[in-house]
Amino acid sequence: MSRELEHELTDLALRIAREAGDLARVRRAEGVHLAATKSSLADIVTDADREVEALIRERLRAVRPGDGFLGEESDSEQGESGITWVVDPIDGTVNYAYGIPSYAVSIAAVQGRAEPGEWDALAAAVYAPASDELFTATRGHGAWLGGRRLSVTTETPAGALLATGFGYDPATHDGDLATVRKVMTIARDLRRAGAASLDLAFVAAGRLDGYFERGLKHWDHAAGALLVSEAGGVVSFADARSSRPMLIAGGTEVHARLRQIIENET
Ligand code: IPD
Repeated sequence: MSRELEHELTDLALRIAREAGDLARVRRAEGVHLAATKSSLADIVTDADREVEALIRERLRAVRPGDGFLGEESDSEQGESGITWVVDPIDGTVNYAYGIPSYAVSIAAVQGRAEPGEWDALAAAVYAPASDELFTATRGHGAWLGGRRLSVTTETPAGALLATGFGYDPATHDGDLATVRKVMTIARDLRRAGAASLDLAFVAAGRLDGYFERGLKHWDHAAGALLVSEAGGVVSFADARSSRPMLIAGGTEVHARLRQIIENET
């Protein structure tokens, strides 16, 4: 894989993420229409999620017809180039539906089997239309917020500012809350902002010291995880073989402490 190609993939991801984010923002202003519920009543998809994903897919196909596609709202496609685009058109759909500005378009290009731990993430863009913030990363070339290079935090003298999230299945809430109780021993405070890609982008930007969440889907974390690792942080999965692996992200020390607490749970 040439360096030029990796940069081309990032440029493509960021251009499409901006265009897709602009469309999401326009549709939000026009009024959101709920299209369907998915795994549970709380797990929703809006017309805008589908329209934005279709736009991203069309733009990618026009430039890179041989690549695979794995998106939240439409069928996946294998491709023959070895590169797959992992896409969440609107991450933070519930925020989006309620008019909370914390939502983002998340686009990653990965190489290898489209399974975390087996793929190599090459390029990533996470665009938050409401704040007009564009986070990007290219493998081996750092993570960026616009023109500013990002670094994870390394010191947490007052405890770690952490974020987490909860899945849509109410049956999993007790377990997730028990984890929160244990993790609070190392926290200065905890956030639940509602968009995993932005939680990861904020870890990369040093706005959070760490993040953990069980049961994320590939499209929730593919781009954000590259942002964190390119910003000098660590991303790993605990309970990798369970149906709800736990993603843990942070600077080296916070990641290690989170991992130790979470692994000692079971
Ligand atoms: C969700 C958000 C949320 C996280 C959920 C995800 P969606 O993605 O990232 O923060 O807690 O686990 O499913 O459904 O809004 O694309």
